[in-house]
Amino acid sequence: MAMVEMMMAMIFLAMVGLGSARVIATQQSRQNEFMVAAESLQPKAEIMKTDNNEVPSENQKLMTMKPNMKIFKTEEKLASRLVEHVAALSEEYSTRKGTFTIALSGANLIRNLRNLRSEPHVRSVDWSTWHVFFADEGVQTKMNGGNYETANDVLLSKVPIPESQIHPINGSLDAKKAAGDYHRILKQLIVKGMLDVSPTTMAPRFDLMLLETGGDGHLAALFPGHKLLNETLCVASLDDAPTPPRSRVTFTFPVIDAAANLVIADLGAPEAAAAAQSKAKGSLDSLRPAKMVKLESGEFTQYLVR
Ligand SMILES: *[C@@H]1O[C@H](CO)[C@@H](O)[C@H](O)[C@H]1NC(C)=O
Ligand SMILES: *[C@@H]1O[C@H](CO)[C@@H](O)[C@H](O)[C@H]1NC(C)=O
Repeated sequence: MAMVEMMMAMIFLAMVGLGSARVIATQQSRQNEFMVAAESLQPKAEIMKTDNNEVPSENQKLMTMKPNMKIFKTEEKLASRLVEHVAALSEEYSTRKGTFTIALSGANLIRNLRNLRSEPHVRSVDWSTWHVFFADEGVQTKMNGGNYETANDVLLSKVPIPESQIHPINGSLDAKKAAGDYHRILKQLIVKGMLDVSPTTMAPRFDLMLLETGGDGHLAALFPGHKLLNETLCVASLDDAPTPPRSRVTFTFPVIDAAANLVIADLGAPEAAAAAQSKAKGSLDSLRPAKMVKLESGEFTQYLVR
């Protein structure tokens, strides 16, 4: 099935020409196969609007799909279940379409993937199918422990993923340029049929998005009350993150909502203190970015240490 889709996409691309601005991609829905043509990675404005042509309100965004909750007593237990989950999805997508696209965010969460490099996973996972992306990254910072750096240290440098299939955000560019650069990279991969798109919004659709959240409910570099919560561009930049590094590149809700599998993990401490603090400030729990997810059609799992 995946081969047929890819060949059809290639024929289409040959017909329209690679120089064309139109991006042709294929996307398999659960029921049937169909083709979609996207003008760009930016979701169509009308799709983001409601019947009265308004941007969805916070309340409408709150009508979210309930996540499947997995609660663990310790981070070690969470890590061992998480690694099995990732390995199972890797096998499912690698077998089905020959690629597995995974987007990561959150250094503490990424560290919990370290067991993928030991038995049985290191041998059973087909690393050659992996395409690794980052849902956010600090740029122009001297701080250590960014998402790419952490992922490289704990996993990527230790397993045989082809280097050309690891896609870091370029941290030496300013945030705006780095976002534009990453947008171009994603677009190229969509054209090549390596990365799926949402059939409704045309946002990139990752097989798995793995996002860490904390006491403030942030997701990627989407922070409570920040204007990027309403952003429709898939890859955005900010220079006013509430915690350093201030300048970051981030995926936005259209990308998160398009994921085929979304995992949000809250590792508990030391963010518990921050959670208590944000409650004390009277911030509405329901307005936290992690509560604003509106997954289109994927599997939504929330991992918690409590
Ligand atoms: C990142 O951007 C800098 C500055 O333009 C460039 O020299 C470098 O090659 C880029 N790195 C990658 C991996 O593309
Ligand atoms: C997002 O847009 C809605 C509707 O226009 C507005 O009420 C809300 O305050 C905006 N949120 C942010 C964080 O800018």
